[in-house]
Amino acid sequence: MTTFLRYLAILALIFAAMQLIPSYPKENPPTDPSLEIELPPDLMAIIRRSCYDCHSNQTRWPWYADVAPMKWIVRRDVQEGRKALNFSIWKSYSPERQKELKAQIFRSVILAMPLPQYLWLHPEAKLSKEERERIQMWASDGKGYIDVQVR
Ligand code: HEC
Repeated sequence: MTTFLRYLAILALIFAAMQLIPSYPKENPPTDPSLEIELPPDLMAIIRRSCYDCHSNQTRWPWYADVAPMKWIVRRDVQEGRKALNFSIWKSYSPERQKELKAQIFRSVILAMPLPQYLWLHPEAKLSKEERERIQMWASDGKGYIDVQVR
């Protein structure tokens, strides 16, 4: 075997071995639909398009969610995203928690969300200025700003 083919075989073996490493499950857990957040249709459309893949139990899983190493990142993002904020179970959050999350949502759309590695593959999820403001208006109950709490 030439050296090149030997390298290729080794790489193929490493790739195959990577597939065996366990990762987070790829699942959309069944959820009581009455717990889902209710929003005006225009806002709901924005949130569904840009946030639901990581912040709901209705993830549209891409094919590479089955292929290591990509699947490690995708599944972790969904796992962590749902833990931080899950619109599918919004009504199960206490009023205090909802208030806290809305303040975090207000801040997250300025810079952090959606995650850059997601936008790279889903440019359609990028928020326009108007869409960002629409989310912030809702998250601040129409005020357009949030009271910063210092803890
Ligand atoms: C590619 C997956 C992904 C998408 C898409 C995404 N998020 Fe997140 N989000 C995460 C992850 C992972 C975390 C938890 C870790 C962290 O804070 O970085 C998170 C955390 C959050 C938090 C919790 C607190 C905070 O500020 O860290 C808020 C609020 C949030 N996201 C809002 C949004 C909103 C609003 C959208 C849509 C405009 C969105 N996210 C889209 C993955 C995502």
